[in-house]
Amino acid sequence: MDNILADRYGINSSTELAIRNGCRAVADAVDERDPRVAVIEVLREEHRNVGKLLDVLERQVVIFEAAERPDFGIIEGIADYFLSYPDLYHHPKEDLVFRRLCERDPAAGERVGDLQAEHEELAARTREFAAGVQDVLDEAQVPRESFGNWARGFITLQRKHMNMEESVFFPAALAALTEEDWAAVDARIKDQDDPLFGRDIGDRYRLLKDDILRWERDESKSG
Ligand SMILES: [Fe+2]
Ligand SMILES: [Fe+2]
Repeated sequence: MDNILADRYGINSSTELAIRNGCRAVADAVDERDPRVAVIEVLREEHRNVGKLLDVLERQVVIFEAAERPDFGIIEGIADYFLSYPDLYHHPKEDLVFRRLCERDPAAGERVGDLQAEHEELAARTREFAAGVQDVLDEAQVPRESFGNWARGFITLQRKHMNMEESVFFPAALAALTEEDWAAVDARIKDQDDPLFGRDIGDRYRLLKDDILRWERDESKSG
């Protein structure tokens, strides 16, 4: 598979491997240093990965809005990924950190807001978006505009949420949690692998991964 990707996309196999290992590699690299850094770096790496997916999705939405045919396989893969990993693994990690933050510094917790409610809102919007994708795939009578609106709403909400976490939540947690807090959170989250950006990519995400790699290659060329 590595050779096929290398041939097709001009990505050398060590780069491919590094990308595939994604957040796990980062987690392993920082693991032995400091649980505080390890936890936050895993969360930030997951944000970077989600950011890439949102960029890929946005590009497909632009194609859709231009009345051309987007790649629904990619869109479906992104919806599928959001239904599984972030809601099941990323948000629960943040919820663990957030609970500790509220204990250590209730005022900082209030500044972050109701993180769990935001995660529930994101999960609801994800289900709505995934259902919209399915309707389009089933050729149900979905107004063209509606699908674009769901997709754009979904992208905007995800980005806004991550920006708040990067600018308010993570700095507050870094300032307030103790070493014991970080060690306890780290011990709970260590062995969760990401099915798209982790060590073992499931078959269902293979095409999506290929598209992300292609997108990154195009970006690095144009940048
Ligand atoms: Fe979050
Ligand atoms: Fe997050």
